[in-house]
Amino acid sequence: MTDTPWWKSAAIYQVYPRSFQDADGDGIGDLEGIRNRLGHLVELGVDALWISPIYPSPMADFGYDVADYCGVDPIFGTLADVDRLIAEAHARGLKLILDFVPNHSSDRHPWFVDSRSGRHAPKRDWYVWRDPGPGGGPPNNWVSNFGGPAWTYDEASGQYYHHAFLSEQPDLNWRNPEVRAAMIDALRFWLDRGVDGFRVDVLWHLIKDIDFRDNPPNPDYGPGMPDIARLLQVHSADQPEAIEVTRELRATLDAYPGDRVLIGELYLPFERLMAYYGPDLTGAQLPFNFHLILAPWNARGLARLIAEYERALPPGGWPNWVLGNHDQKRVASRLGRAQARVAAMLLLTLRGTPTLYYGDEIGLMDGVVPPEALRDPWALREPGVGGRDPCRTPMPWDDGPNAGFSAATPWLPLGDGATRDVAAEAADPRSMLALHRRLLALRRATPALALGAYETVAADGDLLAYQRRDGEARLLVVLNLGPRPATFEAGAPTRTLLSTHLDREGPEPAGALTLRADEGLVLAFAE
Ligand code: GLC
Ligand code: MG
Repeated sequence: MTDTPWWKSAAIYQVYPRSFQDADGDGIGDLEGIRNRLGHLVELGVDALWISPIYPSPMADFGYDVADYCGVDPIFGTLADVDRLIAEAHARGLKLILDFVPNHSSDRHPWFVDSRSGRHAPKRDWYVWRDPGPGGGPPNNWVSNFGGPAWTYDEASGQYYHHAFLSEQPDLNWRNPEVRAAMIDALRFWLDRGVDGFRVDVLWHLIKDIDFRDNPPNPDYGPGMPDIARLLQVHSADQPEAIEVTRELRATLDAYPGDRVLIGELYLPFERLMAYYGPDLTGAQLPFNFHLILAPWNARGLARLIAEYERALPPGGWPNWVLGNHDQKRVASRLGRAQARVAAMLLLTLRGTPTLYYGDEIGLMDGVVPPEALRDPWALREPGVGGRDPCRTPMPWDDGPNAGFSAATPWLPLGDGATRDVAAEAADPRSMLALHRRLLALRRATPALALGAYETVAADGDLLAYQRRDGEARLLVVLNLGPRPATFEAGAPTRTLLSTHLDREGPEPAGALTLRADEGLVLAFAE
């Protein structure tokens, strides 16, 4: 077990830097703020933090529009602050993962400024330029993920450039070897400074159809769905060559000591997701599995989903699970607070690396963000369908001004932070925070949970039961996904190690186990 790479048994914690902790009093979270709060992550019991982008950016998409891949935006701090954060994280036993945004840069990046300067500019081919379509409009029917055409016309040169997101986020041309080399240099810049890995933004988008064919219509499109859902993204993303690029990124990491990890953002069905592990696992170690976010929440459906995912994994491929991130409705808002505790138990007892989203450890709900406070460019472009501000509200730490997040008015309203905070949850032995700490501690102390095999035991009514096994050691997890009590026949005497209610431990009476509404149990088999 000693040669098991750290990222297999690790729990990862995502920090959205604007919203975690503001140290310099400008109402926006920063690197120094994160450093000041590392203690929270250590007490929580996670092993690594992933920070959403901190690079210089005009912030059209809050850092996902990068103007310099080897710098730090002054809003967040300086390079010296990154170095300090890496050093202190490492000193506290935490790994640090950066966000890498290779699909597109900012339109203010000097590369794009050059590219846009004319058809014969040295970096023209670093981005995706096409002549107008036959009728004089955009080259094809591709839609931006934030709505509207995925092409913007450049008057001066008479061509369109492609952007899978905002027009301020032009797509880089990953078929151009100079682009690849420049981006790999950027990875090395951060690897040299000691970062432990990268979460790669929209990894499946990097390569587009070489002939730029039209995407077919989506037969399931209906009113109320975002514009991007009108078409199936058959030709604009997930091309076979994206796997080659993934392998090149991975090889770059592998040239460094210490099991650096490559995590891919991939919203794909299982069979396509698996391709990103690469042949012989030479691709991403953790192609993000978002299916728990997207799946309906019921026992049979979840059991099937887990089994299908486990079955689809390539030999030796390590699983991973996610309940939320900065683009999704928060888990407590999707499922309700009581069921969010069961979801946390599921996330932290499944086989595979879990990633937690900041705030979910205290059961934070989506914030109410009034229309005049909306900041997300998607929300502003497609009102009603695309708003991501509610899941990005500031982390509430205590009952101080602005919940301890900032001395100044926060960049987004506090939302749910008015009613719960880390300090109050830390003082309550049965809080959501206490549950997360217990689950993470149990996971760390129990090889069967951290690395053991997974086996579905039952999925009946609202109950989902499974075992985790490491040699002789076996643990049973029974989750009640419903609002009514339910009974489960364990078939052998059991002992509760942990209940989501945090008020139940020790030997269970003989006979069927009774679970209360929204209760989950981790059990050992009594000898
Ligand atoms: C990813 C990010 C999202 C961003 C988009 C464009 O999906 O998670 O926040 O808007 O890529 O970079
Ligand atoms: Mg600040």
